[in-house]
Amino acid sequence: MARLLDVLRERLELTGTKEGCGEGECGACTVLLEGRPVLSCLVPLVQCAEREIQTVEGLADSVPSFFEQFVATGGVQCGACTPGIVVTAAALLVESPKPTRDEVQKALAGNLCRCTGYEGIIRALIEEAGR
Ligand code: FES
Ligand code: FES
Repeated sequence: MARLLDVLRERLELTGTKEGCGEGECGACTVLLEGRPVLSCLVPLVQCAEREIQTVEGLADSVPSFFEQFVATGGVQCGACTPGIVVTAAALLVESPKPTRDEVQKALAGNLCRCTGYEGIIRALIEEAGR
């Protein structure tokens, strides 16, 4: 059964969405489905008919400063987790424009990063919200 992740990356060439674990554990493949973060490695394509999908490419214009914050705070190292985190964060900022640190940590709980130790990522998000 075709997965949303495969169609995005292979057929539509939207390679910003990454595959990490492929098993719903890492969050690297996060996209928005009708505005809500989902793990595209677990979403069968058949569930996406007539529904709005937004990938990190589509968010580049709406949250450009967020990418700058990531670089400034050291929240991006190898970058493997970054697209998924940006997507999750964008959804959080819609739901909670001024999130607390606790809300940020809860929102990002499913997005694993092996490089940064999370502090830079959390700071980037809080600083972005403060703009
Ligand atoms: S690749 Fe989808 S959660 Fe890891
Ligand atoms: S920056 Fe490398 S996994 Fe997060």
